[in-house]
Amino acid sequence: MAKITFLPAGKTMKARPGQSIMSVAKAARIVIPQRCGGHASCLMCRVVVVSGQVSEPSALEKRKMPEADLGNAIRLACQTKVTDKDCTVRIPESKWKSVVQAALEKQRLEEEEW
Ligand code: FES
Repeated sequence: MAKITFLPAGKTMKARPGQSIMSVAKAARIVIPQRCGGHASCLMCRVVVVSGQVSEPSALEKRKMPEADLGNAIRLACQTKVTDKDCTVRIPESKWKSVVQAALEKQRLEEEEW
């Protein structure tokens, strides 16, 4: 068993070697955006491997992902498998989520001034 920590949630889950990052996230009730059902075609499930060890990119992942992304530890959660070593992955926040959070924070600050 290995431990996987998901950022920014900070949630840690135990996982079996060979299990995909996507399936571990699902078990942890952490949403990773996707549209293709894990067939490496939508490329929406990108995560950043912050530390630890995961499987090497498969031939399919190498064909789909830009080399620069793979070089920067950006992987497809549906294709990347857990090994027997712990790891930490970051799920990038969507641009809309950060825009909405910034607007809400601004509104909150304005309300505090009253
Ligand atoms: S779920 Fe579509 S590429 Fe991973």
